[in-house]
Amino acid sequence: MGDNKSPSGSPKENPDNDSDANPLAKDDSSLETIVRKFQDSMSLKKHKFWETQPVGQFKEVGDSSLPEGPIEPPTPLSEVKQEPYNLPTAYEWTTCDMDSEETCLEVYNLLKNNYVEDDENMFRFNYSKEFLRWALRPPSYFRSWHIGVCAKSSKKLVAFITGVPARIRVRDEVVRMAEINFLCVHKKLRSKRLAPVMIKEVTRRVHLENIWQAAYTAGVVLPTPITTCQYWHRSLNPKKLIDVGFSRLGARMTMSRTIKLYKLPDSPVTPGFRKMELRDVPAVTRLLRNYLSQFVVAPDFDEDDVEHWLLPSENVVDSYLVESPETHEITDFCSFYTLPSSILGNQTYSTLKAAYSYYNVSTKTPLLQLMNDALIVAKQKDYDVFNALDVMQNESFLKELKFGPGDGQLHYYLYNYRIRRELKPSELGLVLL
Ligand SMILES: CC(C)(COP(=O)(O)OP(=O)(O)OC[C@H]1O[C@@H](n2cnc3c(N)ncnc32)[C@H](O)[C@@H]1OP(=O)(O)O)[C@@H](O)C(=O)NCCC(=O)NCCS
Repeated sequence: MGDNKSPSGSPKENPDNDSDANPLAKDDSSLETIVRKFQDSMSLKKHKFWETQPVGQFKEVGDSSLPEGPIEPPTPLSEVKQEPYNLPTAYEWTTCDMDSEETCLEVYNLLKNNYVEDDENMFRFNYSKEFLRWALRPPSYFRSWHIGVCAKSSKKLVAFITGVPARIRVRDEVVRMAEINFLCVHKKLRSKRLAPVMIKEVTRRVHLENIWQAAYTAGVVLPTPITTCQYWHRSLNPKKLIDVGFSRLGARMTMSRTIKLYKLPDSPVTPGFRKMELRDVPAVTRLLRNYLSQFVVAPDFDEDDVEHWLLPSENVVDSYLVESPETHEITDFCSFYTLPSSILGNQTYSTLKAAYSYYNVSTKTPLLQLMNDALIVAKQKDYDVFNALDVMQNESFLKELKFGPGDGQLHYYLYNYRIRRELKPSELGLVLL
């Protein structure tokens, strides 16, 4: 749920990338980690909770006789459980009003201190308050889907899960779904089976709105991914990335050669490249709808969605387009969102400023050139790294633009919707935050 999400999926480059890496440099592979990784990779783990849910099960993989589509039919709304699920007695449900500065700050702090870390606990996602407000209040959002758990005595927020409504197309069906994100349990309350209760509660509240499907991502393997993607990272500030342990100096590389390798022009090179504005919403919507139609799973964006998700918002989402200097036609589009990570325990630096590739469309400007311009503006804006998944057509530019593979995987899931066969990342047209 959310992206770059592994406990193993870091905002971090894969050290194995470096063929001369010293295997003894860091021995962080406890037996437990090795066993977990092995079980994950073999899908051998029992999933006491997920085995009870309407999701593709591991034992069904490869069974092409099962039909594509909803696993369970909707139940009449009157049969949906009317009361919240029970929590351990010391805790109670709370609906988080993200309009409230105070509540937003509580959510921000819970995530800042307890949300996703990389395998080696060097970085932790630090979603900003503005970002959380943007991510959680798209058109027609439901406040009841912003769910907190707090201690009865102190009212302190200790866990969180959210949903937002979306229309997602799977092949030629447009399905109303919830996008589930920001599942977080305070570090001190882990492994007490609180997460399944939270997932059931958000599911119940989604059902109350007559919505029966959901989409989510996780760094962990659960039954059963529709596809598994990889993060790639493009250094913009290599010195800082190396200093904080995000990346390593390559074999036979010096710092000055590395800095030179990643150097970019001062400003974008494509004539007509400019920031997206409100007046561009209709053209961008047309461009994007047409582009996304080629993928097996993709959002079904209308103009309201595009205005919300893609109109630039300072330190949240950046969007640029190419307006033909001759015809004034909008021919290409690129975007990225801002998700910093806290750097844990570094004397010099506290935050890694990361841009995440979002939706990109090229019709006239080659995608490679468009994305190079995106890197240039990200560098101008002082981002340290530009991240991208291998979804959509991203593979076509990653290597050439000097992205390196990350060390974790991001698995995409659908709830109560079966897909006939696993997809390739390039068949996926969906980016979750
Ligand atoms: C993810 C998190 C909420 C799980 O809580 P927990 O205390 O570790 O686990 P619990 O004992 O409550 O629940 C375990 C169940 O939740 C499932 N689970 C764990 N992480 C999950 C995830 N990201 N998405 C869905 N289910 C998940 C487990 O698979 C297990 O179910 P199973 O027995 O069917 O396999 C918690 O570890 C956390 O806050 N981690 C940091 C933030 C994070 O990684 N969030 C998820 C982002 S995708």
